[in-house]
Amino acid sequence: MAQPTKSVLLIISGGIAAYKSLELIRLFKKDGIGVQTILTKSGAEFVTPLSIQALSGNKVYQDLWDLTAESEMGHIELSRAADLILVAPATANILAKMTHGIADDLATTCLLATNKPVIAAPAMNVKMWENAATQDNIATLKKRGIDIIQPEEGDMACGEYGEGRLPDPETIFSIVKKKLNPETLPLHGKIAFVTAGPTYEAIDPVRFIGNHSSGKQGYAIAEALRDAGAEVTLISGPTRLQDPHGVKTVHVTSAQEMLDASLERIDSDIAICTAAVSDWRSTEPADQKIKKQTGADAPTLVLTENPDILATISKHKSRPALVIGFAAETQEAEKNAKEKLLKKGCDWIIANEISITNPVFGQDTNTAALITRNGVEESWKTQTKVDIARKIVEKTALFFYQGSTADTSWQDNKERA
Ligand code: C5P
Repeated sequence: MAQPTKSVLLIISGGIAAYKSLELIRLFKKDGIGVQTILTKSGAEFVTPLSIQALSGNKVYQDLWDLTAESEMGHIELSRAADLILVAPATANILAKMTHGIADDLATTCLLATNKPVIAAPAMNVKMWENAATQDNIATLKKRGIDIIQPEEGDMACGEYGEGRLPDPETIFSIVKKKLNPETLPLHGKIAFVTAGPTYEAIDPVRFIGNHSSGKQGYAIAEALRDAGAEVTLISGPTRLQDPHGVKTVHVTSAQEMLDASLERIDSDIAICTAAVSDWRSTEPADQKIKKQTGADAPTLVLTENPDILATISKHKSRPALVIGFAAETQEAEKNAKEKLLKKGCDWIIANEISITNPVFGQDTNTAALITRNGVEESWKTQTKVDIARKIVEKTALFFYQGSTADTSWQDNKERA
Protein backbone atom coordinates (compact mmCIF):
# COMPACT_ATOMS: atom_id res chain seq x y z
CA MET A 1 0.00 0.00 0.00
CA ALA A 2 1.26 3.51 -0.82
CA GLN A 3 2.65 5.51 2.11
CA PRO A 4 0.26 8.26 3.28
CA THR A 5 1.49 11.68 2.09
CA LYS A 6 0.16 13.47 5.17
CA SER A 7 -0.17 12.27 8.71
CA VAL A 8 -1.81 13.33 11.95
CA LEU A 9 -0.95 12.59 15.56
CA LEU A 10 -4.33 12.27 17.26
CA ILE A 11 -4.45 12.71 21.03
CA ILE A 12 -7.60 11.29 22.59
CA SER A 13 -8.21 12.61 26.07
CA GLY A 14 -10.89 11.47 28.49
CA GLY A 15 -14.41 12.54 27.69
CA ILE A 16 -17.65 10.90 26.64
CA ALA A 17 -17.06 12.37 23.15
CA ALA A 18 -13.98 10.13 22.75
CA TYR A 19 -16.12 7.65 20.81
CA LYS A 20 -16.33 10.23 17.99
CA SER A 21 -12.55 10.05 17.53
CA LEU A 22 -12.95 6.48 16.27
CA GLU A 23 -15.03 7.77 13.38
CA LEU A 24 -12.48 10.54 12.88
CA ILE A 25 -9.70 7.95 12.50
CA ARG A 26 -11.81 6.16 9.90
CA LEU A 27 -12.28 9.39 7.94
CA PHE A 28 -8.53 10.13 7.97
CA LYS A 29 -7.66 6.62 6.84
CA LYS A 30 -10.28 6.68 4.09
CA ASP A 31 -8.72 9.88 2.80
CA GLY A 32 -5.21 8.40 2.80
CA ILE A 33 -4.06 10.41 5.85
CA GLY A 34 -1.82 8.45 8.24
CA VAL A 35 -2.88 8.41 11.91
CA GLN A 36 -0.74 7.82 14.98
CA THR A 37 -2.63 7.98 18.28
CA ILE A 38 -1.91 8.77 21.87
CA LEU A 39 -4.61 7.68 24.30
CA THR A 40 -4.46 9.34 27.71
CA LYS A 41 -5.16 7.38 30.89
CA SER A 42 -8.64 8.87 31.22
CA GLY A 43 -9.22 8.53 27.46
CA ALA A 44 -8.74 4.79 27.89
CA GLU A 45 -11.77 4.78 30.21
CA PHE A 46 -13.94 5.67 27.22
CA VAL A 47 -12.38 3.92 24.20
CA THR A 48 -10.14 0.89 24.02
CA PRO A 49 -6.65 0.81 22.52
CA LEU A 50 -7.71 -2.24 20.57
CA SER A 51 -10.45 -0.48 18.62
CA ILE A 52 -8.15 2.48 17.90
CA GLN A 53 -5.38 0.19 16.71
CA ALA A 54 -7.78 -1.77 14.51
CA LEU A 55 -8.95 1.44 12.81
CA SER A 56 -5.65 3.30 12.57
CA GLY A 57 -3.56 0.26 11.70
CA ASN A 58 -0.89 1.57 14.09
CA LYS A 59 0.20 0.92 17.64
CA VAL A 60 -1.57 3.11 20.18
CA TYR A 61 0.80 5.02 22.45
CA GLN A 62 -0.34 5.34 26.05
CA ASP A 63 2.61 5.64 28.33
CA LEU A 64 5.69 7.86 28.26
CA TRP A 65 7.74 4.88 29.34
CA ASP A 66 6.37 2.71 26.49
CA LEU A 67 8.63 4.66 24.22
CA THR A 68 11.91 3.97 25.92
CA ALA A 69 12.27 0.50 24.41
CA GLU A 70 14.97 0.55 21.74
CA SER A 71 12.67 -0.37 18.89
CA GLU A 72 10.21 2.44 19.71
CA MET A 73 10.06 6.01 18.56
CA GLY A 74 11.19 8.53 21.20
CA HIS A 75 8.53 10.96 22.45
CA ILE A 76 10.28 13.91 20.79
CA GLU A 77 10.24 12.09 17.48
CA LEU A 78 6.61 11.05 17.97
CA SER A 79 5.67 14.68 18.61
CA ARG A 80 7.26 15.77 15.33
CA ALA A 81 6.77 12.84 12.98
CA ALA A 82 3.23 13.83 11.96
CA ASP A 83 2.36 16.98 10.01
CA LEU A 84 -0.06 18.12 12.69
CA ILE A 85 -1.28 17.26 16.19
CA LEU A 86 -5.01 17.08 16.80
CA VAL A 87 -6.37 16.88 20.35
CA ALA A 88 -9.93 15.51 20.06
CA PRO A 89 -11.69 15.50 22.36
CA ALA A 90 -9.70 18.02 24.40
CA THR A 91 -10.86 18.06 28.02
CA ALA A 92 -10.71 21.13 30.26
CA ASN A 93 -7.87 19.35 32.05
CA ILE A 94 -5.64 18.82 29.01
CA LEU A 95 -6.32 22.39 27.83
CA ALA A 96 -5.24 23.69 31.25
CA LYS A 97 -2.07 21.59 31.11
CA MET A 98 -1.29 22.81 27.60
CA THR A 99 -1.75 26.41 28.74
CA HIS A 100 0.62 26.01 31.66
CA GLY A 101 3.22 23.79 30.00
CA ILE A 102 2.58 20.84 32.28
CA ALA A 103 4.11 17.67 30.84
CA ASP A 104 3.15 14.85 33.18
CA ASP A 105 2.20 12.17 30.65
CA LEU A 106 2.95 11.20 27.07
CA ALA A 107 0.22 13.40 25.51
CA THR A 108 1.18 16.61 27.30
CA THR A 109 4.91 15.94 26.84
CA CYS A 110 4.41 15.60 23.08
CA LEU A 111 2.31 18.76 23.02
CA LEU A 112 5.11 20.65 24.74
CA ALA A 113 7.83 19.16 22.55
CA THR A 114 6.20 19.49 19.16
CA ASN A 115 7.24 21.89 16.40
CA LYS A 116 4.10 21.16 14.38
CA PRO A 117 0.73 22.97 14.21
CA VAL A 118 -1.70 21.96 16.96
CA ILE A 119 -5.49 21.91 16.69
CA ALA A 120 -7.63 21.27 19.76
CA ALA A 121 -11.32 20.34 19.71
CA PRO A 122 -12.62 21.00 23.24
CA ALA A 123 -15.54 18.96 24.58
CA MET A 124 -16.88 19.26 28.10
CA ASN A 125 -19.85 20.20 30.26
CA VAL A 126 -21.26 23.66 29.46
CA LYS A 127 -20.33 25.12 32.86
CA MET A 128 -16.79 23.79 32.59
CA TRP A 129 -16.55 25.35 29.12
CA GLU A 130 -17.95 28.69 30.29
CA ASN A 131 -15.78 28.79 33.39
CA ALA A 132 -13.42 31.78 33.33
CA ALA A 133 -10.46 29.44 33.91
CA THR A 134 -11.23 27.50 30.72
CA GLN A 135 -12.00 30.63 28.72
CA ASP A 136 -8.74 32.26 29.83
CA ASN A 137 -6.85 29.12 28.85
CA ILE A 138 -8.53 29.06 25.44
CA ALA A 139 -7.63 32.73 24.88
CA THR A 140 -4.00 32.04 25.80
CA LEU A 141 -3.78 29.00 23.55
CA LYS A 142 -5.29 30.91 20.62
CA LYS A 143 -2.82 33.73 21.19
CA ARG A 144 -0.01 31.19 20.95
CA GLY A 145 -1.29 30.02 17.58
CA ILE A 146 -3.16 26.89 18.60
CA ASP A 147 -6.32 26.48 16.53
CA ILE A 148 -9.39 25.84 18.64
CA ILE A 149 -12.39 24.17 17.04
CA GLN A 150 -15.38 25.84 18.65
CA PRO A 151 -17.55 23.33 20.52
CA GLU A 152 -21.20 23.12 19.52
CA GLU A 153 -24.33 23.86 21.49
CA GLY A 154 -26.74 21.04 22.27
CA ASP A 155 -27.83 18.36 24.72
CA MET A 156 -24.97 17.05 26.81
CA ALA A 157 -24.33 13.50 27.92
CA CYS A 158 -24.70 14.73 31.53
CA GLY A 159 -28.27 15.89 30.84
CA GLU A 160 -27.55 19.63 30.72
CA TYR A 161 -27.91 21.82 27.64
CA GLY A 162 -25.40 24.27 26.24
CA GLU A 163 -22.12 24.83 24.46
CA GLY A 164 -19.48 22.16 24.92
CA ARG A 165 -20.30 19.36 22.50
CA LEU A 166 -17.63 18.01 20.20
CA PRO A 167 -18.57 18.83 16.59
CA ASP A 168 -19.24 15.97 14.18
CA PRO A 169 -16.19 14.03 13.04
CA GLU A 170 -16.82 15.27 9.46
CA THR A 171 -16.53 18.90 10.63
CA ILE A 172 -13.28 18.25 12.50
CA PHE A 173 -11.95 16.23 9.57
CA SER A 174 -12.57 19.05 7.07
CA ILE A 175 -10.88 21.64 9.34
CA VAL A 176 -7.83 19.40 9.75
CA LYS A 177 -7.72 18.67 6.04
CA LYS A 178 -7.65 22.38 5.22
CA LYS A 179 -4.82 22.92 7.67
CA LEU A 180 -2.89 20.04 6.10
CA ASN A 181 -3.48 21.37 2.59
CA PRO A 182 -3.31 25.19 2.75
CA GLU A 183 -3.13 25.38 -1.04
CA THR A 184 -6.81 24.38 -1.14
CA LEU A 185 -7.89 27.47 0.83
CA PRO A 186 -9.86 30.01 -1.23
CA LEU A 187 -7.42 32.91 -0.82
CA HIS A 188 -4.22 30.88 -0.93
CA GLY A 189 -1.56 32.88 -2.77
CA LYS A 190 -3.40 36.19 -2.31
CA ILE A 191 -1.78 39.10 -0.49
CA ALA A 192 -3.96 41.38 1.61
CA PHE A 193 -3.64 44.32 3.94
CA VAL A 194 -6.15 45.71 6.40
CA THR A 195 -6.09 49.10 8.12
CA ALA A 196 -7.64 49.07 11.59
CA GLY A 197 -8.14 51.07 14.76
CA PRO A 198 -7.97 54.83 15.16
CA THR A 199 -5.14 57.19 14.26
CA TYR A 200 -3.77 59.60 16.82
CA GLU A 201 -2.63 63.01 15.61
CA ALA A 202 -0.34 64.75 18.05
CA ILE A 203 -1.24 68.19 19.38
CA ASP A 204 1.77 68.08 21.68
CA PRO A 205 3.71 65.18 23.24
CA VAL A 206 0.81 64.28 25.56
CA ARG A 207 -2.35 65.28 23.68
CA PHE A 208 -3.82 64.05 20.46
CA ILE A 209 -6.83 64.19 18.14
CA GLY A 210 -8.36 60.77 17.62
CA ASN A 211 -11.51 58.82 16.86
CA HIS A 212 -13.49 56.16 18.69
CA SER A 213 -12.39 52.80 17.35
CA SER A 214 -11.62 49.55 19.14
CA GLY A 215 -10.11 47.97 16.01
CA LYS A 216 -12.19 44.82 16.64
CA GLN A 217 -13.81 44.67 13.19
CA GLY A 218 -10.51 45.19 11.35
CA TYR A 219 -8.68 42.63 13.46
CA ALA A 220 -11.48 40.10 12.86
CA ILE A 221 -11.21 40.72 9.11
CA ALA A 222 -7.43 40.22 9.18
CA GLU A 223 -7.95 36.90 10.99
CA ALA A 224 -10.70 35.79 8.60
CA LEU A 225 -8.47 36.59 5.60
CA ARG A 226 -5.68 34.58 7.23
CA ASP A 227 -8.05 31.65 7.81
CA ALA A 228 -9.01 31.77 4.15
CA GLY A 229 -5.33 31.32 3.25
CA ALA A 230 -4.29 34.91 2.40
CA GLU A 231 -0.96 36.39 3.44
CA VAL A 232 -2.12 39.29 5.61
CA THR A 233 -0.61 42.49 6.94
CA LEU A 234 -2.62 44.33 9.57
CA ILE A 235 -1.77 48.04 9.70
CA SER A 236 -3.07 49.04 13.08
CA GLY A 237 -3.45 52.33 14.89
CA PRO A 238 -3.33 52.28 18.72
CA THR A 239 -5.73 49.64 20.13
CA ARG A 240 -5.91 47.43 23.20
CA LEU A 241 -6.02 44.26 21.12
CA GLN A 242 -3.43 41.49 20.90
CA ASP A 243 -1.59 41.09 17.60
CA PRO A 244 -3.36 38.23 15.82
CA HIS A 245 -1.36 35.07 15.32
CA GLY A 246 -0.25 34.32 11.77
CA VAL A 247 -0.75 37.91 10.60
CA LYS A 248 2.04 40.47 10.18
CA THR A 249 1.00 43.42 12.33
CA VAL A 250 2.50 46.85 11.64
CA HIS A 251 1.84 49.35 14.41
CA VAL A 252 1.35 52.97 13.40
CA THR A 253 0.11 56.06 15.19
CA SER A 254 -0.79 58.78 12.69
CA ALA A 255 -2.69 58.84 9.39
CA GLN A 256 0.50 59.67 7.51
CA GLU A 257 2.22 56.59 8.98
CA MET A 258 -0.82 54.46 8.10
CA LEU A 259 -0.76 55.77 4.54
CA ASP A 260 2.99 55.11 4.21
CA ALA A 261 2.57 51.53 5.48
CA SER A 262 -0.34 51.02 3.06
CA LEU A 263 1.56 52.37 0.06
CA GLU A 264 4.44 50.00 0.85
CA ARG A 265 1.95 47.19 0.16
CA ILE A 266 0.05 48.75 -2.74
CA ASP A 267 0.84 45.81 -5.02
CA SER A 268 -1.30 43.51 -2.81
CA ASP A 269 -4.40 41.78 -4.19
CA ILE A 270 -6.79 42.97 -1.50
CA ALA A 271 -7.00 46.13 0.66
CA ILE A 272 -9.65 46.52 3.34
CA CYS A 273 -9.74 49.91 5.07
CA THR A 274 -11.56 49.67 8.38
CA ALA A 275 -9.49 52.30 10.21
CA ALA A 276 -11.19 55.30 11.76
CA VAL A 277 -8.67 57.76 10.40
CA SER A 278 -8.63 61.20 11.92
CA ASP A 279 -9.78 63.69 9.29
CA TRP A 280 -7.47 66.42 10.54
CA ARG A 281 -4.14 66.84 12.24
CA SER A 282 -2.58 69.74 14.01
CA THR A 283 -0.66 71.81 11.46
CA GLU A 284 2.21 72.34 13.84
CA PRO A 285 2.27 69.90 16.76
CA ALA A 286 4.10 71.49 19.71
CA ASP A 287 7.45 69.98 20.74
CA GLN A 288 6.69 70.54 24.42
CA LYS A 289 3.49 70.11 26.41
CA ILE A 290 1.31 73.21 25.93
CA LYS A 291 0.91 74.79 29.38
CA LYS A 292 -2.56 75.60 30.65
CA GLN A 293 -2.70 79.25 31.69
CA THR A 294 -5.64 79.97 33.96
CA GLY A 295 -7.47 83.08 32.88
CA ALA A 296 -5.71 83.26 29.51
CA ASP A 297 -7.46 82.48 26.23
CA ALA A 298 -7.51 78.82 25.26
CA PRO A 299 -4.92 78.08 22.57
CA THR A 300 -6.15 77.93 18.98
CA LEU A 301 -5.58 74.73 17.09
CA VAL A 302 -4.80 75.14 13.41
CA LEU A 303 -5.73 71.98 11.55
CA THR A 304 -4.63 70.47 8.25
CA GLU A 305 -6.63 67.81 6.43
CA ASN A 306 -5.16 64.33 6.59
CA PRO A 307 -4.60 62.26 3.46
CA ASP A 308 -7.53 59.98 2.61
CA ILE A 309 -5.92 56.54 2.69
CA LEU A 310 -8.82 54.68 1.09
CA ALA A 311 -9.11 57.19 -1.77
CA THR A 312 -5.34 57.23 -2.32
CA ILE A 313 -5.22 53.43 -2.51
CA SER A 314 -8.30 53.24 -4.76
CA LYS A 315 -6.92 55.76 -7.25
CA HIS A 316 -3.37 54.40 -7.29
CA LYS A 317 -2.21 53.00 -10.63
CA SER A 318 -0.92 49.80 -8.95
CA ARG A 319 -3.94 49.40 -6.69
CA PRO A 320 -5.13 46.02 -5.39
CA ALA A 321 -7.75 44.25 -7.53
CA LEU A 322 -10.25 44.61 -4.68
CA VAL A 323 -10.39 47.67 -2.42
CA ILE A 324 -13.03 47.74 0.32
CA GLY A 325 -13.89 50.68 2.53
CA PHE A 326 -16.16 51.16 5.52
CA ALA A 327 -18.72 53.85 6.15
CA ALA A 328 -20.07 54.60 9.60
CA GLU A 329 -23.05 56.89 9.13
CA THR A 330 -25.57 58.27 11.56
CA GLN A 331 -28.32 58.47 8.94
CA GLU A 332 -29.17 57.12 5.50
CA ALA A 333 -26.21 54.77 5.73
CA GLU A 334 -26.75 53.07 2.39
CA LYS A 335 -27.29 56.23 0.36
CA ASN A 336 -24.29 57.96 1.90
CA ALA A 337 -22.17 54.83 1.55
CA LYS A 338 -22.91 54.64 -2.18
CA GLU A 339 -21.87 58.30 -2.58
CA LYS A 340 -18.71 57.56 -0.61
CA LEU A 341 -17.91 54.59 -2.81
CA LEU A 342 -18.16 56.74 -5.94
CA LYS A 343 -16.19 59.61 -4.44
CA LYS A 344 -13.35 57.48 -3.12
CA GLY A 345 -13.24 55.06 -6.06
CA CYS A 346 -13.21 51.85 -4.00
CA ASP A 347 -14.97 48.69 -5.17
CA TRP A 348 -17.15 47.95 -2.19
CA ILE A 349 -18.24 49.76 0.95
CA ILE A 350 -19.40 48.07 4.11
CA ALA A 351 -21.97 50.44 5.58
CA ASN A 352 -23.05 50.58 9.20
CA GLU A 353 -25.65 52.89 10.56
CA ILE A 354 -24.44 54.17 13.91
CA SER A 355 -27.40 54.46 16.25
CA ILE A 356 -28.46 53.63 19.76
CA THR A 357 -29.48 50.14 18.60
CA ASN A 358 -26.23 49.66 16.67
CA PRO A 359 -23.57 51.59 18.61
CA VAL A 360 -20.74 49.64 16.86
CA PHE A 361 -17.84 51.35 18.61
CA GLY A 362 -16.14 48.97 21.03
CA GLN A 363 -18.95 46.41 20.69
CA ASP A 364 -18.51 42.79 19.65
CA THR A 365 -21.45 42.95 17.27
CA ASN A 366 -22.21 44.90 14.14
CA THR A 367 -25.05 45.38 11.65
CA ALA A 368 -23.88 46.07 8.14
CA ALA A 369 -24.60 46.08 4.42
CA LEU A 370 -22.32 45.40 1.49
CA ILE A 371 -22.65 48.15 -1.11
CA THR A 372 -21.25 47.87 -4.60
CA ARG A 373 -21.58 50.17 -7.60
CA ASN A 374 -24.91 48.45 -8.27
CA GLY A 375 -26.32 49.28 -4.86
CA VAL A 376 -26.98 47.05 -1.86
CA GLU A 377 -25.49 43.65 -2.59
CA GLU A 378 -26.25 42.11 0.81
CA SER A 379 -27.62 43.17 4.20
CA TRP A 380 -26.30 41.51 7.32
CA LYS A 381 -28.43 41.54 10.46
CA THR A 382 -26.81 42.14 13.86
CA GLN A 383 -24.14 39.52 14.46
CA THR A 384 -20.63 39.26 15.84
CA LYS A 385 -17.87 41.22 14.15
CA VAL A 386 -16.18 37.85 13.61
CA ASP A 387 -19.19 36.61 11.60
CA ILE A 388 -19.37 39.87 9.63
CA ALA A 389 -15.64 39.46 8.88
CA ARG A 390 -16.24 35.92 7.60
CA LYS A 391 -19.04 37.13 5.34
CA ILE A 392 -16.83 39.86 3.88
CA VAL A 393 -14.07 37.31 3.27
CA GLU A 394 -16.51 34.85 1.66
CA LYS A 395 -17.57 37.59 -0.76
CA THR A 396 -13.91 38.43 -1.33
CA ALA A 397 -13.13 34.82 -2.23
CA LEU A 398 -16.08 34.79 -4.65
CA PHE A 399 -14.76 37.98 -6.24
CA PHE A 400 -11.55 36.19 -7.15
CA TYR A 401 -13.31 33.03 -8.33
CA GLN A 402 -16.25 34.47 -10.20
CA GLY A 403 -15.09 37.99 -10.97
CA SER A 404 -16.46 41.06 -9.28
CA THR A 405 -20.06 41.19 -8.16
CA ALA A 406 -19.76 44.89 -8.90
CA ASP A 407 -19.80 46.54 -12.30
CA THR A 408 -16.16 46.21 -13.30
CA SER A 409 -16.16 48.53 -16.31
CA TRP A 410 -15.30 51.51 -14.16
CA GLN A 411 -12.06 49.81 -13.15
CA ASP A 412 -10.61 50.85 -16.51
CA ASN A 413 -10.45 54.31 -14.95
CA LYS A 414 -7.83 53.02 -12.54
CA GLU A 415 -5.24 53.24 -15.28
CA ARG A 416 -5.82 56.96 -15.58
CA ALA A 417 -5.15 57.72 -11.95
O1 C5P B 1 -14.74 59.62 4.83
P1 C5P B 1 -15.01 58.60 5.86
O2 C5P B 1 -14.09 58.70 7.03
O3 C5P B 1 -16.43 58.50 6.28
O4 C5P B 1 -14.70 57.22 5.10
C1 C5P B 1 -14.61 56.02 5.76
C2 C5P B 1 -13.74 55.06 4.99
O5 C5P B 1 -12.59 55.73 4.48
C3 C5P B 1 -13.17 53.95 5.86
O6 C5P B 1 -12.95 52.82 5.06
C4 C5P B 1 -11.86 54.55 6.34
O7 C5P B 1 -10.95 53.55 6.73
C5 C5P B 1 -11.41 55.31 5.13
N1 C5P B 1 -10.60 56.51 5.39
C6 C5P B 1 -9.26 56.53 5.09
N2 C5P B 1 -8.53 57.67 5.28
C7 C5P B 1 -9.10 58.79 5.76
C8 C5P B 1 -10.47 58.79 6.09
C9 C5P B 1 -11.20 57.63 5.91
O8 C5P B 1 -8.74 55.50 4.66
N3 C5P B 1 -8.38 59.88 5.94
